[in-house]
Amino acid sequence: MITQYLADGILKILLNRPERKNAFTNSMYREFTQMLSEADQNPQVKVILISGAGNTFSSGNDIADFMQSPITHEDAPPINLLKVLAELNKPLIAAVDGFAVGIGATLLFHCDLVYAQKDARFIFPFVSLGLVPEGAISLLLPRLIGHQRASEILLFGEALSAEDAQQIGFVNKVIHEPSALPYAEQRAKKLTTLSSGSLLNTKSLLKGGALKSAVLSQIDLEGKLFIDRLHGPAAKEALTSFLEKRAPNFEGLD
Ligand code: COA
Repeated sequence: MITQYLADGILKILLNRPERKNAFTNSMYREFTQMLSEADQNPQVKVILISGAGNTFSSGNDIADFMQSPITHEDAPPINLLKVLAELNKPLIAAVDGFAVGIGATLLFHCDLVYAQKDARFIFPFVSLGLVPEGAISLLLPRLIGHQRASEILLFGEALSAEDAQQIGFVNKVIHEPSALPYAEQRAKKLTTLSSGSLLNTKSLLKGGALKSAVLSQIDLEGKLFIDRLHGPAAKEALTSFLEKRAPNFEGLD
């Protein structure tokens, strides 16, 4: 469900579950986390490039999985993945075609370069699912655009276009081709011609120090609230309503 291919210093990781819009199951989180950790240690890997199969980046956590095996502790697979992403040393590029939802969108805030096909859509649906944001997005988004603009996005959870995302600043370039992947591959290739040490040092200057500790603490803080809410009635109603293909009714639910 997640495949990897290493050639010429670029590790290409493909989220590959198109029949479920590349929704993450617990085993996919584990696979992905292991691939990233190994890539960070492997001297043959200079750059990591993530994309999704079937014209979708990822629809986030698998909703059926959320209901059948909801996370209960802070070292659960999605939280571990987010921490490994936040601490990754090597340059990480994402090529986004189609939807990037939930963790499929928040993980982009831990990528160094994000290229999006012009029809890509980014959704942070945490509140509409009765949940709270994760992946330190509640810290990183206001840092990028200020409290009010971040609140508009995180409270309403409405879809953002590729152009919106570029204006906000978490997409580098909107690609007017059928897929963002070829352009992302060109950029990855260019990075492989540069000094590995210089790339690593520069990334650690951009993301290390106080910011990294704040991001890791925020992931923990969000994780605690997320777990509480996931077991509450509002999330249960929202997740059930998705599976039953109807609108949720939060009346009387906290
Ligand atoms: N978990 C489980 N199944 C999912 C899924 C998810 N996160 N996202 C999509 N699917 C399933 C759909 O239920 C559908 O299954 P079906 O063929 O049995 O009906 C199939 O994948 C195709 O998805 P569909 O909704 O028909 O595609 P779309 O192009 O109309 O919409 C999305 C794509 C991503 C906008 C929409 O599927 C969606 O909103 N998914 C849920 C996203 C979400 O809330 N994620 C959790 C974040 S915390």
